[in-house]
Amino acid sequence: MPTTEHIAWRNGALHIEALPLADIAAEVETPCYCYSAAAIAQQYRALADALDGLPARIHYSVKANAGLAVLRLMANLGAGADVVSEGEIRRALAAGIAARDIIFSGAGKSAAELAFALDAGIAQINVESEAELRLLSSIAARRNAAAHVALRINPDIDAQTHRKITTGTKANKFGVPWQDAAGLFAAAANLPGIRMSGLAMHIGSQITSAAPFHAAFERLAGLAAELRGEGFAVESLDLGGGLGADYGASTPGSTASTLDVREYAAAVRAHFAAPPCRLLFEPGRFLVADAGVLLTRLLYEKHAGDKRFLIVDAAMNDLLRPALYDARHDIVPVNRPAAGAAAAPADIVGPVCETSDTLARNCPLPPLAAGDLLAVLQAGAYGASLASMYNSRPLAPEVLVSGARMAIVRRRPSHAELLAAERIPDWLETT
Ligand code: LLP
Repeated sequence: MPTTEHIAWRNGALHIEALPLADIAAEVETPCYCYSAAAIAQQYRALADALDGLPARIHYSVKANAGLAVLRLMANLGAGADVVSEGEIRRALAAGIAARDIIFSGAGKSAAELAFALDAGIAQINVESEAELRLLSSIAARRNAAAHVALRINPDIDAQTHRKITTGTKANKFGVPWQDAAGLFAAAANLPGIRMSGLAMHIGSQITSAAPFHAAFERLAGLAAELRGEGFAVESLDLGGGLGADYGASTPGSTASTLDVREYAAAVRAHFAAPPCRLLFEPGRFLVADAGVLLTRLLYEKHAGDKRFLIVDAAMNDLLRPALYDARHDIVPVNRPAAGAAAAPADIVGPVCETSDTLARNCPLPPLAAGDLLAVLQAGAYGASLASMYNSRPLAPEVLVSGARMAIVRRRPSHAELLAAERIPDWLETT
């Protein structure tokens, strides 16, 4: 079932805000992503309210949903941005997020990207290794600039989430071991072009209980106090993102649950009640997951013994999460089935030639006919942003809705555009 009131059935038809999703599908064609601006704003305000009174700033993690329109919406709401590449910096700037409101994270920033960030005046660079710190120092010194740096530490705390989206244990590539922080702060004091001003951390994504946050915050707070005790300036603490969404709640056997945003904020307050510095947050999924649906049409139904397959026109290239993380997304018919209509479990699969192209397993759905529309719920985060053109399928378009207004914020590329970037070398013989 939809987890936001902004995506709901009215008169038997699934709406996104004031618009029937069937009308959008008729205009834009499927597969397509639709986002509710009100749902995003609601999540932003819920987090901002929960953090009220703390010296907190929300930097939306662009990778969750990187569209320019979504970024402009975030800027209008008051968010800064957390970015991980030159491309994301360019997107954030193009959407109207000021460089002073952008944090640059990532374990593998190239020299060119660091130089670009410095030239653009990015507020903070979260450095993840000593080698990166030294490279940044040389690039900044050459420019006579000072890079504002936070050191991303790896707190070695298990976020108790899917292993592929766990980032804060010592088995993960992210950050520097927290025990090395003091030594690196001392080394940084002698490096030209480096102004070390804070600590950063991000222990993982889709975190659904408070315990890992408590453990990580405790470690970070202790480390910050230790560094201050040694005379280092710690002006900001970046607590990362990670707050989960409530996926797959109506899938049979699902144990879906999520962490209430107020409980998350309580964990923050427990460790940073009156912090002597700014607190930075990098939420992605929490702000956008519930706000999006992936609309798809049924192409064929087929049966193999007991097995019911619904073959739809969206595929793993459009929404990779089920294939990559065994993620569950609820899938519902856009026309509400009549009360009492018998639902039978079905595997919802796409046209891509892989068995992993399964959007959902054993999803209870009523009888459907070819052409019927289905909505894949909670597809606003890591949906379009993780999409590819595998099987030479054009990227699905994206639609933003606000009340009764809709805009195609990213159109479907033409097949000619997909071919335009390629060439056949003239030394390949013609057949
Ligand atoms: N900050 C950093 C440094 C990150 O690496 C991430 C996410 C975030 C913030 C935002 O995390 P969030 O609040 O969205 O949990 N594709 C996966 C999720 C990968 C997350 C990568 N890093 C998925 O679809 O589940």
